[in-house]
Amino acid sequence: MSKLTLDRILQSQGFGTRKWCRSLITDGEVRIAGEVVRDYRVAIETGGLEFELFDETWPFREHVYIALNKPANFECSRKPSHHPGVLTLLSEQCSWRDIQPVGRLDHDTTGLLLMSDDGAFIHAQSSPKRHVPKVYAATTQEAVSDALIAQLLGGVQLHDEPAPLAALVCNRLAEHQLEIVLEQGKYHQVKRMLAAAGNHCAALQRTAVGALTLEQLDLEPGEWCYLEPHHLALLTDRLPGQ
Ligand code: URA
Repeated sequence: MSKLTLDRILQSQGFGTRKWCRSLITDGEVRIAGEVVRDYRVAIETGGLEFELFDETWPFREHVYIALNKPANFECSRKPSHHPGVLTLLSEQCSWRDIQPVGRLDHDTTGLLLMSDDGAFIHAQSSPKRHVPKVYAATTQEAVSDALIAQLLGGVQLHDEPAPLAALVCNRLAEHQLEIVLEQGKYHQVKRMLAAAGNHCAALQRTAVGALTLEQLDLEPGEWCYLEPHHLALLTDRLPGQ
């Protein structure tokens, strides 16, 4: 970690322009270890730093790692065209940081969406070489048959793909519900695989990325949280039994 002046610290954490952050400090709004700090030029070690502002304690975060329970009708694009963007669901502070979704979910897909302002993390998570499994619960128009599961596990040919794509895991959850685990993140992959196998995806939810599940995070649709190191460790884990 490194030392930064207090105004730069506040700015880096998304509390506004440097000028605004300086005024917060000189107005006596910021406390460190219970003491008001009014000198914005003071250089402070950021490693392990916590400060108080607006009646809340804030840990210094060099980067942010976020999990959102994405509701339907939000777009992952940075320039959304038909629906509001997922970034609008985050706090105002987040809007001051360069946060981007890790990969994309369709506007009508719900569930676990990761976001970060750490470019290396986004790149690593999105890289096909990482083989991070993504778990989806798909509601199907036609009943889930053994033949459908066999087809998805055996591989289905999609247009524009050089080779058939297969699910890593595929389980029937209910008559019209299927759990499908994919290693790749191709455009509309679940919907296209189901269509190629002769069914139709009526609704889609992402329930896990790696071993990090939506259930563990306990987020209502539209809610988000910061991911802590123990959550991030789960992103590199394989699923049980793999
Ligand atoms: N597969 C899809 O078809 N859509 C998504 O949003 C994610 C995976």
